[in-house]
Amino acid sequence: MAEIHPDVERILFTQEELDQRVSELAEEINRDYAGKEVLLISVLRGSFVFMADLVRKLTVPCRVDFMACSSYGSGTTSSGQVKVTKDLSDSIEGMDVLVVEDILDSGRTLNYLLKLLEARRPASVRLCTLLDKPDRRVVRVNVSYTGFVIPDTFIVGYGLDYGEHYRNLPYIGGLKPSVYEAETK
Ligand code: PRP
Repeated sequence: MAEIHPDVERILFTQEELDQRVSELAEEINRDYAGKEVLLISVLRGSFVFMADLVRKLTVPCRVDFMACSSYGSGTTSSGQVKVTKDLSDSIEGMDVLVVEDILDSGRTLNYLLKLLEARRPASVRLCTLLDKPDRRVVRVNVSYTGFVIPDTFIVGYGLDYGEHYRNLPYIGGLKPSVYEAETK
């Protein structure tokens, strides 16, 4: 196993645990979409690692596309207004769409995005999130595939960042409080 990063306090999910769970999710998706083609939409940036691992475990025909969005407002509290900063490359009309996210938190981003995508008349839209923090939910979101339900703790790695760092860690870990306390001084 990779050596733990000095800024990480503890590992929540090891590389092996993530691989196992992603395989299980892929099996479910392969089963549910049998006979169909699925369009995977990765919501950048955090989902790129999960997306890359998930897509390589799929056996159903699939396409990939990417979009990015940001919340208006400052700090850690979003205002609920979401702005698309990078849109999809192709039309999704008539497609079976699976949105791939790294984490579902307040639900504001996904609530907005799912409505936006549904308005583009796909055959179906479902959501697959690696992590879900239900304690943080403000807006209801329907999730079809969830990797892990986690408590409201600060985590990094496997695509998730703090100040755009740590996305490359192969595991998911909790950051040492001294790291973010030092940066807010
Ligand atoms: C994360 C995550 C979701 C969103 C979830 O992205 O990837 O898009 O937050 O939060 P919500 O449920 O409260 O809307 P983030 O804004 O951290 O951007 P990033 O993916 O570029 O790191």
